[in-house]
Amino acid sequence: MKKEDYRFTFEVYDSIEELSEDDAMLLREAHKVTQKAYAPYSHFRVGAIAQLKNGALVKGSNQENASFPIGLCAERVMLASAASLYPDVPIKTVAVSYDNENGRSSRPISPCGICRQSLLEYETKLNHPIRIILGGLSGKVYSIERAGMLLPLSFTADELNG
Ligand code: THU
Repeated sequence: MKKEDYRFTFEVYDSIEELSEDDAMLLREAHKVTQKAYAPYSHFRVGAIAQLKNGALVKGSNQENASFPIGLCAERVMLASAASLYPDVPIKTVAVSYDNENGRSSRPISPCGICRQSLLEYETKLNHPIRIILGGLSGKVYSIERAGMLLPLSFTADELNG
């Protein structure tokens, strides 16, 4: 037996003011998109925005349903829009923000497992890393070099194709 080591390094900024102008703009836009969320059940509004290689900005917000499992996360709504509008254009950066009506919004949230898998597939599909910026209404901001880093030992098409 031997042990393998998975190392995960990411950047932590004390506040949005520490970010580059471009990244700060993206995170502020992600926050604006939270207002488009349909979240009558959780009251937890999430906004995601992608900056594509051609400069386009594509947005998504969480869309819930009375049948709870049908609800979609902001990240996957955004990915589906990007794939529909610009199927061949890689995503450079994604910013995610949120507004929690029932609690604090002062620390970054991180994409759920399903969204991590979806982001990884998008990176692989267009062969381009997707940088992820995570922040709330206030507080620290995280920057992750590529989405795949959030999903070690991931399942990919390589397994299907042998
Ligand atoms: N949600 C997102 O949209 N993105 C995340 O990264 C985490 C959770 C949504 C799903 C649900 O509508 C609400 O937030 C509460 O879980």
